[in-house]
Amino acid sequence: MVNNRKVAVVGCGFVGSSSAFALMQSGLFSEMVLIDVDRARAEGEALDIAHGTPFATPMKIYAGDYADAADAAIIVVTAGAAQKPGETRLDLVNKNVRIFQGIIPQIRDSGFEGILLIVSNPVDVLTYAAIKMSGLPEGHVIGSGTVLDSARLQEALGAHLGVDPRDVEAYVIGEHGDSELAVWSSADVAGVPLKDFCEMRGHFDHEEAERRIAEDVKNAAYEIIDRKHATYYGIAMSVKRLCTAIMRDEKCILPISALMVGEYGISDVAISMPTIVGRDGVECRVPISLDEEELAELHRSAKALRDVIDGIEVEL
Ligand SMILES: NC(=O)c1ccc[n+]([C@@H]2O[C@H](COP(=O)([O-])OP(=O)(O)OC[C@H]3O[C@@H](n4cnc5c(N)ncnc54)[C@H](O)[C@@H]3O)[C@@H](O)[C@H]2O)c1
Repeated sequence: MVNNRKVAVVGCGFVGSSSAFALMQSGLFSEMVLIDVDRARAEGEALDIAHGTPFATPMKIYAGDYADAADAAIIVVTAGAAQKPGETRLDLVNKNVRIFQGIIPQIRDSGFEGILLIVSNPVDVLTYAAIKMSGLPEGHVIGSGTVLDSARLQEALGAHLGVDPRDVEAYVIGEHGDSELAVWSSADVAGVPLKDFCEMRGHFDHEEAERRIAEDVKNAAYEIIDRKHATYYGIAMSVKRLCTAIMRDEKCILPISALMVGEYGISDVAISMPTIVGRDGVECRVPISLDEEELAELHRSAKALRDVIDGIEVEL
């Protein structure tokens, strides 16, 4: 039986602990299990985060193992080696697939029936690996995908246009990584096509601005890692947003990574596109319109991921 008040976080490094901290403040759950191979780390984070609960809402927070997480509504997986300066997310793949072999089968064997939210990188490849290893229904395994990249895009466009980023409707889709793409053709602010809104705000050099903003979004993680060795606050807020969408059955549209089953002619790879997310995880993919060049870029991105999956050294 799923306990709708319980969440578990596997991996208590920068991303796991920041996500746990954000979830503690969310009020969504009354129990949180923290799991890490470094048990002392999980215990330390549990104690530290629990000390904030008198300023938020009451919550039981403790270090545990996979048996404790068996009835959780959501397990967030952030375990893995992190990206090093200069290392691409795809370089991490074999290292983290092996780590997943030590995690996902334990989740499966515990009888877990909730939603598995994958955050570790390369997130699209690990989401695909988790679908294969977990035996869970495909729609119950979600990767955080380009939710963070899209937030970065909204934030940058909000600043560029002098408007609340929440009113910017623009998605990054594809791989969470080097082959991702910003979908400019359908971007808008309050229903006004982006180009028209830009002109309204005195910006006319669209192509240059789009190129610069998309590059900044794509390189954001590298820029942050160069300066502070890890990124974690933006992804922690993305995890909180996703958990809210699931637990409140919001059916909101978020660009998560999930298995493609023929959308845009793409199959057998997990990749991000806008998706209706609710209590059952993936409710429905939303095939937003893409122009010819965007469609070609999405296909290139899917192919790049498929090539990485084909090159994984261990059997999934
Ligand atoms: N999807 C995104 O948008 C996004 C954003 C930022 C970081 N990340 C990814 O999140 C992951 C974690 O990053 P970080 O900065 O927190 O790294 P980190 O090194 O600080 O933490 C990783 C944690 O995983 C634990 N771990 C390792 N193997 C484990 C296992 N088998 N079982 C349980 N725990 C295990 C480690 O002990 C450590 O505490 C990385 O893969 C990183 O690239 C993803």
